[in-house]
Amino acid sequence: MIAKRSVLTDEMVAKIEALAPRYPNRQALTLPALHIVNAELRHVPLEAVAEIAAILGLAPAEVQDTLSFYQFFYQAKPHGTVRAFVCRSISCALRGGDQLLEHLCHSNGIQPYGTTADGSLTIEPAECLGACDFAPCILANDDLLMNMTPDTATAALKQPRAKAT
Ligand code: FES
Repeated sequence: MIAKRSVLTDEMVAKIEALAPRYPNRQALTLPALHIVNAELRHVPLEAVAEIAAILGLAPAEVQDTLSFYQFFYQAKPHGTVRAFVCRSISCALRGGDQLLEHLCHSNGIQPYGTTADGSLTIEPAECLGACDFAPCILANDDLLMNMTPDTATAALKQPRAKAT
């Protein structure tokens, strides 16, 4: 019997199944499946957890365990269309990363980890993004923004970006 799905699209399921040959068993597909769903929906609601579990032949609690282990995944509601990680590790902190984070949150009327009312932007503190020579840095969806100032960051985050992953 094919289980009825209400959240996962056929495309999402196809992407998950396409990865199956790379993994030793169905349970090992849990994390990639969560990433695929989060990339499409910008969160992984409980219904999606149950549907992923059904596809992988797992208990929903097993999928939820994996999801809740990682702070990366949103569940209650989607993150913004642009998800901006502002580095707060040492190189960026020494070059104004904390002030950059504070400026972006203040100018957008949100707290860290908050999302603007229009759903366009979520701002999160992050650890080293691997581009310390170009501090301070922001990862905005798939774009690494380097040598940011409050003004250049504000302008950069207004540009359309690649889909959040
Ligand atoms: S400390 Fe910010 S990119 Fe490494």
